[in-house]
Amino acid sequence: MNDSAPERRRLAGLLAQNGVLTSPWLRAAVETVPRELFLRPGVFLDEGGAWLPVTAVGTDPAAWLKTAYSYDTLTTQLDGHLTADQVSDPVRGVPTSSSTNPATVVGMIETLEVDAGHRVLEVGTGTGYSAALMCHYLGEDNVTTVEVDPEVAARADTALETAGFSTWTVTGDGLLGHPRRAPYDRVIATCAVRRIPHTWIRQTTPGGIILATVGSWGYGTGLAKVTVGDDGTAEGRITGRSSFMQARSQAVVPVSGDLSARTAHADSERAAKVPPTVLDEWMPAFIAQLAAPGAHLVRAARSDGTKLRYVFDPERESFAAFTLDGDSDGDGDGDGWSVRQGGPVALWDDIERALTAWHAAGRPDITAVRFHITARSHTYWIEGNPSLRWQHRLA
Ligand SMILES: C[S@@+](CC[C@H](N)C(=O)[O-])C[C@H]1O[C@@H](n2cnc3c(N)ncnc32)[C@H](O)[C@@H]1O
Repeated sequence: MNDSAPERRRLAGLLAQNGVLTSPWLRAAVETVPRELFLRPGVFLDEGGAWLPVTAVGTDPAAWLKTAYSYDTLTTQLDGHLTADQVSDPVRGVPTSSSTNPATVVGMIETLEVDAGHRVLEVGTGTGYSAALMCHYLGEDNVTTVEVDPEVAARADTALETAGFSTWTVTGDGLLGHPRRAPYDRVIATCAVRRIPHTWIRQTTPGGIILATVGSWGYGTGLAKVTVGDDGTAEGRITGRSSFMQARSQAVVPVSGDLSARTAHADSERAAKVPPTVLDEWMPAFIAQLAAPGAHLVRAARSDGTKLRYVFDPERESFAAFTLDGDSDGDGDGDGWSVRQGGPVALWDDIERALTAWHAAGRPDITAVRFHITARSHTYWIEGNPSLRWQHRLA
């Protein structure tokens, strides 16, 4: 096998140059842990709509190392089962496990503020590469990593062993944490969650930090950094945009079936004050999820190409359906969209109110979002504006 030390040093140098990698201990880890060990049997490269399988065995060693040390996320599993060694031609599918791009992995570990002696719980082992970086500094006994997919967990465990780390790779639902090894000083999730599970707070020592991507849309999600209090509560803020595959047990089932039938009976219809297309932007999408937690956004088009948009909340049996009449009313507000709403919750009234207040507040960035978590509720707010406050009660 080719020695990958030059690629590791090059990757560390690039990460440092880009300002992502700052801690000497983490630089040493990136320079030492061979990423290629964690990509076996292979990866799928995005070829504009199809996934090209590239395997470790059968690929020119230099080309394989070039792939392994790319700055990109490398997809390692599609549709919950397919690996690159099982196919030879490009395939279609949905990524369900990957080695996250090195800048995100390293940036998150830096944000986690890890110190020698800390005990870390990682949720979403994936390939095991990020766990290995932490093991290199903290020692294998101080890292516990939970992966929901047994085959992914087994491959990661083998890779970690090969790299010299007999760490705690647990197969299970990471949303439950791993109580047997608690308490932890740090919890890091490399899959997105709808909200921080209270079990993680219970398994973290007071003063400990939890880092996870929150939100359930494919974009419009934020990296939450939470400090645990000594009374079972936690305080946090969103440190920036972040995008990860959804935790499997919380993955949103796409709203399917005949959308016009599902929205046939509306309780109200009016001109939209805010066009639903603003939800194509990151922060409005994040705000919409705060105002209507559990809502899904669906984009569709009629056969003649007319744009359609829907917001569904299956749990609260409510919907908002939008049509673009084409003739803008000229006031530049809702841009000619009308909204029909049905069910007990007027979803667009709630989202529109939040978006209007956010606009009036000068469109603050996602990093302005703060939150407080108790066993019973999650409260989010943006400082200095009482209309930008949302409380999500649990049960
Ligand atoms: C983006 S990958 C992890 C990347 C990994 N840290 C790395 O860099 O190699 C996300 C992983 O989370 C796993 N996952 C999804 N839902 C999970 C859950 N509820 N508990 C634990 N793992 C989960 C997926 O199976 C997938 O392997």
